[in-house]
This record gives sequence, structure tokens and C-alpha cells, in this order.
Amino acid sequence: MSVNETDTAMTTAEIRELESRYGIPTYAQLPIAVVGGDGSWVTDADGRRWLDLYGGHAVALTGHCHPRVVKAIQDQAGKLLFYSNVVANDARARALRSIAGIAPKGFSRTFLCNSGSEANEAAIKIARRTTGRRRVVSMINGFHGRTMGSLSATALGHYLADYAPGVPDHEFIPFGDLAAAERAITDTAAGILLEPIQSMGGMWTATAEYLRGLRALCDRHGTLLMFDEVQTGPGRTGAWWYGENFDVQPDVITTAKGLGSGVPVAAVIASDAVAAKVKEGDQGTTFGGGPLACAAVEATIAVLRDEHLVENAAARGAQIADAVRSIAGVTGMRGRGLLSGIVLDRDAGPVVKALRGHGILAGSTPGDAKVLRLLPPLVLTESEVETFARALHAVMKGA
Ligand SMILES: Cc1ncc(COP(=O)(O)O)c(C=O)c1O
Repeated sequence: MSVNETDTAMTTAEIRELESRYGIPTYAQLPIAVVGGDGSWVTDADGRRWLDLYGGHAVALTGHCHPRVVKAIQDQAGKLLFYSNVVANDARARALRSIAGIAPKGFSRTFLCNSGSEANEAAIKIARRTTGRRRVVSMINGFHGRTMGSLSATALGHYLADYAPGVPDHEFIPFGDLAAAERAITDTAAGILLEPIQSMGGMWTATAEYLRGLRALCDRHGTLLMFDEVQTGPGRTGAWWYGENFDVQPDVITTAKGLGSGVPVAAVIASDAVAAKVKEGDQGTTFGGGPLACAAVEATIAVLRDEHLVENAAARGAQIADAVRSIAGVTGMRGRGLLSGIVLDRDAGPVVKALRGHGILAGSTPGDAKVLRLLPPLVLTESEVETFARALHAVMKGA
């Protein structure tokens, strides 16, 4: 096949061969080429259907190709693909209003950008700018992205070590350890950035007590509490934002992944008190808040709300926990809602592979080999959970 040839009916093998020939090989890929999707399902190039409990890495929040999201993108594409923030735009105005509508009380302002890493970079800059301090505290085992700034707040495996040194003035403490937080959060700390559920790190889940403790320490020292909700928000844990499960409000929330149901978009949502300190020129990005992405954001939030998908995330998460609890070899559960970590008595890698034999895509975590990770669309149904539980049962029995 020549480079310019357009072939809509390529086989899995042809697609994989082209990608491996022309892509810089940074990704370990599954032996699948996905070409379509609807709801919790994707279709591969050979016509096989897969139950997608990986969700394109937590991105397909409203399911694949939700008709309302697709229509909003199509309509916007026919009107205006892009204009930068140098002018106002109707799609951007509506998306900002939609985000404010689901943000915690006292959070009405958002900075729009393009990826989780970029959102975390912006949050770190906001912490430094608004406090006048430099030191940023984050968690051992946390993951905040791969650009140099967000990577500098990442202390998981090889990600930063391979590129050290990182940006100066980052400090790491053990997740869940309030005494360590007390030592690190002082009058010289600009901010603390953490994932409420350390997804890549092994699905370690913050308790209410820990988050309340961090809130109190940050209040005492004027340090910004920043939740990286790139995976947990919006809605995935059964509340719009993780802290709402426990009535704990951070000062800054970053989110990305599912916010546009697959159109690249990210957001830094700040409390009004923090937002009031950010000045013109403090941050910017060409593509942030582009009309196409904003149309996707508005439609995504409308679908989450109208179809009660946040409530569904809580219900399906509880159903998964109930359904797998009695399976031999399942030793525990981590996570919350539809960010679900099933702890096994064995490595999850071979289990993930065997689930593919049952037509199911699931994940593992680099931080804990024994954790099977589910990040499915929030449209997941009761019967799809049953299908998964039956398959996991068979796989764990070695069938
Ligand atoms: C918690 C968390 N933060 C940040 C990121 C980085 O997001 P992105 O890949 O969109 O830059 C990720 C990506 O997996 C993530 O899981």
C-alpha cells in the first residue's frame, strides 16, 4: 500500500503494520485495531466487537460516539472549527457556563486547555503565581503527566527518573500519611497536587480523613490544595468531583480525559478566591477553548446530567464490587464508582489478556501488578457488568 492511499477497509494486520512503520514507537500496543465504537463497545478492523471496560483510557465518558455529542461536534464543525481566545466565542461561552454549573460551590471560573499534563502545568503555575512561593508537594506513586512540568510532580516508576532532573522545588511525600503532609505543608509550600485515586499508581484511594487533614493543613499555611481529577472527574466516582463524596473542597481542580467525550480538552477549575488572583497574561494556549472542543464539552455535560450517568457510575461501581467479591482469587477492591481497582492474588497482566479471549478490554496498573483496573464509559449497563463478572469468574478459574 502506498503512503497516500486511502483505504477505509484495512485489516487489523494492515493497520498495525502501517502504524509500526510510520509511528515513533513509544507505545506498547494490544494486538487490536479499533475502527468504530458505540456505547460501551468498540469494533475492530476485522468486525469483532469488544466490551470496552478500559474506555480508551477513561476517555469515553459518555460512551463511544454518543449521538448527542457527535451531533454537537458535527454542527459546530459546520459553523466554525477554530478561533483563538483573542476573541469571545459562543461555544466557549456555553462550555464555561456548563462547567461552572457542575463545579463545586464557590468555583465559577475555568481555564481551558488541551490535555491533563497541560492542565497540571497550569495548576502548578497558578499555585506559584498566586502564593508567591515556589515549592510544590506531590505524592509518591502519583502520576500527573509527561510534559516536563507535570512530570516533575510525578513520582511513579521510571517516568521522571529517565529524564531527571525535573523542575526544581518539587517534593514528594507518601500518599495517605498525614504526619508526612504536616512536615511538608508549611508556610513555604505553594501547593499540594494529588490524585484522589492514584490510578496509574495502583488505585490507592484517599480516605475522607486524609483529605480533611490536607484541607486543614492547607488552610493553616495558605497552601493551595489541588486535586488532579484527570481520571476521577467529572462524574466517574459517583459524584461530579471526588471531594464531594466527602464534602472536602480543594482550591483547584484539573480535569481532562472524558470532559469532551474524546475530543481533546482539559480544564483548570479554580475557586473564586484563587481565580481572583490570576491576572491577564499569566497563562495561555492557542488551542485551549477552541469551539469544536467546547461544543463537545457542553454536550458531554448535558448527557451526563440528562442521562443520570453520575448516579449510574455509583450504582455500577457498587455492582462490580458486589459481583466480584466472591470470585476466588479476588482479594480486595480499591477505587470508587467506575474507577475500579480489583485486587487479585496474582498478576493482573495475564488476567487482562485472558479477558480479551472473552471479548473484554480491561486494564492493569504500572504501580501495582496485582490490580485489575476498570475505567469504563459511564453508560455501562447492569447486564454488561454481569457479562464482565461471568468472564472474570471463568478466567480466574482458569477456564
Ligand atoms: C491522573 C492523571 N493526570 C494527568 C494525566 C496526563 O494527562 P494527559 O495524558 O492528557 O496529558 C493522566 C494520564 O493518564 C492521569 O491519569
